[in-house]
Amino acid sequence: MKLRRSILIGAVAAATVGALTVAPAVATLTAKSPADQSLKALGQRHDLAIGTAVNVDLLSDSTQPQYKEIASSQFSSVTAENAMKWESIEPTKGTYDWTKADAFMKFAKDNHQLVRGHVLVWHNQLPKWLTDGVTAGTITKPQVRELLKKHITDVVSRYKGQIWQWDVVNEAVSDPWETNNVIKLRDDAAKGFWYNNYGPDYIADAFKFARAADPKALLFYNDYNLDAFGSGGADDKSQFVYTMVKDLRAKGVPIDGVGSQGHLSTRYGNFDAIQIADWHNKFAGLGVATAVTEADVRSLMTDALKANNSDAINEAFQAQAANYSALLQGCLASRHCLSFTVWGFDDKNSWTATTDLGSGPGGEALAAIYDATYKPKRALNTLKADLAYTGAPYVLDRIPQRPRR
Ligand code: G3I
Repeated sequence: MKLRRSILIGAVAAATVGALTVAPAVATLTAKSPADQSLKALGQRHDLAIGTAVNVDLLSDSTQPQYKEIASSQFSSVTAENAMKWESIEPTKGTYDWTKADAFMKFAKDNHQLVRGHVLVWHNQLPKWLTDGVTAGTITKPQVRELLKKHITDVVSRYKGQIWQWDVVNEAVSDPWETNNVIKLRDDAAKGFWYNNYGPDYIADAFKFARAADPKALLFYNDYNLDAFGSGGADDKSQFVYTMVKDLRAKGVPIDGVGSQGHLSTRYGNFDAIQIADWHNKFAGLGVATAVTEADVRSLMTDALKANNSDAINEAFQAQAANYSALLQGCLASRHCLSFTVWGFDDKNSWTATTDLGSGPGGEALAAIYDATYKPKRALNTLKADLAYTGAPYVLDRIPQRPRR
């Protein structure tokens, strides 16, 4: 397929050169503009899946039909934004509600999209019966262990054979600003639920339970603030995760990949594409795949931005596009980076529009690649250009991955 394409391109090039010697003035470029192609079609050039998080409720929202249209036409991979989280799937102890998760899976199937399963083990969006039961002492620690095993087994088994990558464990590692510049597994009251109630072996066990339930899915550790390596010391979250994954692999734990979420803000320094490429390649050196799993780039909503001041908008959108681009180029540069997923694609429905990230609800927003009226932003065309105007020797096809043993 690829070979035939390059022969054809060679023939076209030869014909073009011939034509140019005769009449250089009439040479025209006939390739379709990247702007007129979908992200998924452009990603295919590198075997890179381009994904988005999907809010299942919005797929049937008649007030914004663009949501479903873009979700189905632009992306080759999808992640359920909330529908596969524990609180959604088992709101009442022992009674599953698969309605939204099944609807999400049907959407992916109807549109021939790969699925990133999200998420099996996280301290957030746990059902109240579980967290309240543990607090009240009506759910004991041995029961917590049994419950986690059952949860992973039941969810992974239901979608066995249909999930490409599972986010098995999410955000288990602290940030330097939380733990006095010494990274560790989260063990605090707010975010250390699994560490404190299951024990530190929850991470290894979760991967083993997932592998037993679906031997073909690629199993990922997923986290934010993991975009590039830093000092290499105790305050370097990437370095901590690197060592953790290395240890897990050495112990035979079935972990296949590391997901870098990629939630950035234009207010921070962030990283350039070369630093990010180094990150992917260093993890690939451990024998694991990588992925960008939740990319978005928000801006601090200054008064000027809130007032839609064009100077402020221009600055914010250009900085945003540059950061999206660094994340994508870094992934493209590693043949083991399998997918690039944005965490929603429009400013109206992005989680940042309502979340308090320290500056009040929606205080850091405008994070997506389409605006709130679904108009493409500069970031969208920048991603398309990055996918279109690249190739050998720095950008090569992905290397197909199989689950590690
Ligand atoms: O469940 C209630 C629902 O009953 C109610 O009607 C509705 C009204 O607003 O709120 C619903 O809960 C919201 C839930 O999303 C489902 O829509 C929560 O308030 C809201 O906080 C929650 O936010 C999600 C957030 O995870 C929770 O931490 C975001 O949509 C989701 O985008 C976000 O995703 C996470 C990834 O899973 C992991 N990485 C970080 C990323 C961004 O925070």
